[in-house]
Amino acid sequence: EMTGKCPFGGDSIGGAVGTPPALSDWYPNRLKVEQLHQNGPQANPLGEDFNYAEAFNTIDLEALKQEIKTFLTTSVAWWPSDYNNYGPQMIRMAWHSAGTYRIADGRGGAGEALQRFAPVDSWWDNGNTDKSRRLIWPIKQKYGSALSWADLIVLTGNCALEIMGFPTYGFAGGRQDAWEVDNSTYWGPEVERDLKNADSPDSMVSRDKRWRGQNGDPDYDLENPLAASHQALIYVNPEGPYANGDPMGSARDIRVTFTRMAMNNEETVALIAGGHAFGKSHGMVPASEIGMPPEIAPMEAMGFGWHNPKGSGNAENTMTNGIEGSWTPNPTQWDNDYLVNLFKFDWEQTKSPAGALQWTPVDKNAPKTPDAHIPGKMNALMMMTSDIALKEDPEYRKVCEKFLGDFDAFTQAFSKAWYKLTHRDMGPRERYLGPEKRNENDLLWQDPIPLADYELIDAADITALKESIMATDISVSDLVYTAFSSAVTHRSSDKRGGANGGRLALLPQKDWAINQRTVPVVAALRKLMEEFNGEQTGNKKVSLADLIVLGGCAALEKAAADAGFTTAVPFTPGRRDTTQELTDIEMFTWLKPVADGFRNYLDPEFEAISQDVAPEVMFLDKAQLLSLTSPEWVALMGGLKAMNANHDNSAHGIFTDRVGVLTNDFFTVLTSMDFEWQKTDEQGMTFSLNDRKTGKQRFTATRSDLVFGANSQLRAVAEVYAGSDGQKRFVKAFVKAWDKVMMLDRYDVKVSA
Ligand code: HEM
Repeated sequence: EMTGKCPFGGDSIGGAVGTPPALSDWYPNRLKVEQLHQNGPQANPLGEDFNYAEAFNTIDLEALKQEIKTFLTTSVAWWPSDYNNYGPQMIRMAWHSAGTYRIADGRGGAGEALQRFAPVDSWWDNGNTDKSRRLIWPIKQKYGSALSWADLIVLTGNCALEIMGFPTYGFAGGRQDAWEVDNSTYWGPEVERDLKNADSPDSMVSRDKRWRGQNGDPDYDLENPLAASHQALIYVNPEGPYANGDPMGSARDIRVTFTRMAMNNEETVALIAGGHAFGKSHGMVPASEIGMPPEIAPMEAMGFGWHNPKGSGNAENTMTNGIEGSWTPNPTQWDNDYLVNLFKFDWEQTKSPAGALQWTPVDKNAPKTPDAHIPGKMNALMMMTSDIALKEDPEYRKVCEKFLGDFDAFTQAFSKAWYKLTHRDMGPRERYLGPEKRNENDLLWQDPIPLADYELIDAADITALKESIMATDISVSDLVYTAFSSAVTHRSSDKRGGANGGRLALLPQKDWAINQRTVPVVAALRKLMEEFNGEQTGNKKVSLADLIVLGGCAALEKAAADAGFTTAVPFTPGRRDTTQELTDIEMFTWLKPVADGFRNYLDPEFEAISQDVAPEVMFLDKAQLLSLTSPEWVALMGGLKAMNANHDNSAHGIFTDRVGVLTNDFFTVLTSMDFEWQKTDEQGMTFSLNDRKTGKQRFTATRSDLVFGANSQLRAVAEVYAGSDGQKRFVKAFVKAWDKVMMLDRYDVKVSA
């Protein structure tokens, strides 16, 4: 007989998969190793064999653009377009998609269409971008998997600019969508959800949490790696800091946030003044009357948020940000009216129907702008506090004045800045797809590496070169250290850094403290390179970048052999050397590590900035940026410690008497109960491993070493490598992880990655 009871075994179910409280509620500071296993193949409905580059290349880009352009001027009843043109709202969608990028860790950006997922999809600043994406769904649906959301969002922005008379600089496809929320990105310290009040003075507490120091102090600054002044915003509050209407305060916030996304003064002005040549702001209803954002809206909203109860809830009643009005008399035409009017008139503070603070021309005879929906109705022009900032701030003002006098220079600057904004996180130019890509060497932000105009080394050369390297007096340890140091700057977020280009030998990297150990090694390898290249009669060359990696591979083969394993460490030639001129020193300084446990490195300034973040958390962050899995991270750590990869020749974590031999000693010591562990400083940054019997110190370690035995998930992996059958598995795993790191930036041989 059926009892009607639930199969869970009770009438009242309190929770199921994912119901809070979650682990992080109980143990907020536990190391979240699972962050390494995000957005894995399990989440991807396209399967691992899907080749996006191949699929994208089947598209007739010109035809696709034509379809987008036709759609942009075809209004749909459920969300009628302003001025009969969806262009402006699509530009904003594309800008917000790219605008989350931050240079400090390379995360955010347009690359994976993360605007579709929480929390980004529900940020106040992304209000009604849910409508923009849904409007282009028919095009996405038609092209299916051959056109990623990420590419479509940027391309639609470009098409929008073009139909309004703006010459875009280029477009490259090649962005691959994420399939789940991005949990690894730190978006700020706030825990309360700032759903509606991001722009209101009530939210100042939230803003204060991410700003360090006191407002007014010279060192008042936004915490890193953040690039938005306030949670739930893309950049800054348009009403000024704390919605206080202060243009100079706004200018400071704009400079901080746009610098964090690697834009200089000229690019910043070009982007803001360029963007606000188009469209309007929407503020017809107080924020308090607007519904919940997509992530927590009712089921029947079907992924839409911000329900607007007024009238149709759209068109002339639209409420997005809260400010109301347009910047120019012709908001669907590329022209210089934004700057002209900004400078021609004095502006005074007023309030929008939603109650937001904005600016209106004092002169009542100033040009008016047509209503976006009501025929014949004319409205006053509008500026935001963040727009007035461009006029008030002396540096921004200079740029504005230049653009005011030279519309072509403005057009050029915006065109290039838009290309940079939307392609910034795509990484090496090998990833760019389609007929409109632009790869000129003057686009320094692309970290250019000139193409090879010579023949690559072959298998026989590789064997000979390995022998010459091993015949020098450079130690196994130094060779491994140098190769690793050249590759480990890569970050999977914006795909910058890595061994390709040979930038280890260039500024700023060659001067970093962590790279001092590599300097003599690079010099010796350079000599070998010159010898080899000098001996060639044909057009064959070896690059320094390749030789640095080859040195590490050769050394590891010896280290494995000395441990009793004959192993071929894979090596794929083809890295090219770049030049100092093609290296933006300031932008590369952002790749300098903060905490690198592999090489026992902690930035000397770390303590000052690390009130909330332990070194092992920064190390996990680095592992995540290297796209390592936990078994790979653990294996790499053990192998590099066996090689003594400490930058400073300290003994921390070198749990072996056989340095340079690829043993699993790191793990056997780490898991052994023959030792007891004691902290040797008050904060618990360094430790002593004492023999339990004699009480004598055997080894020393840092947090980044011991975490592999202290953290339960890392320990589970360390135990595998420490097992009696672990040595062989460890060598295999290490070599595989090593090769993965050496190949991280080789988009030239893995185009679709
Ligand atoms: C609209 C703020 C930079 C392009 C808006 C709106 C706000 C805003 C509040 C109105 C949203 C609405 O209610 O519909 C800001 C701030 C910026 C900034 C504070 C930086 C300081 C940019 C940039 C671009 C851009 C860099 C593009 C390059 C646009 C466009 C619209 C818009 C095209 C019109 C959208 C429409 O018509 O629906 N901006 N913006 N903005 N913004 Fe910006």
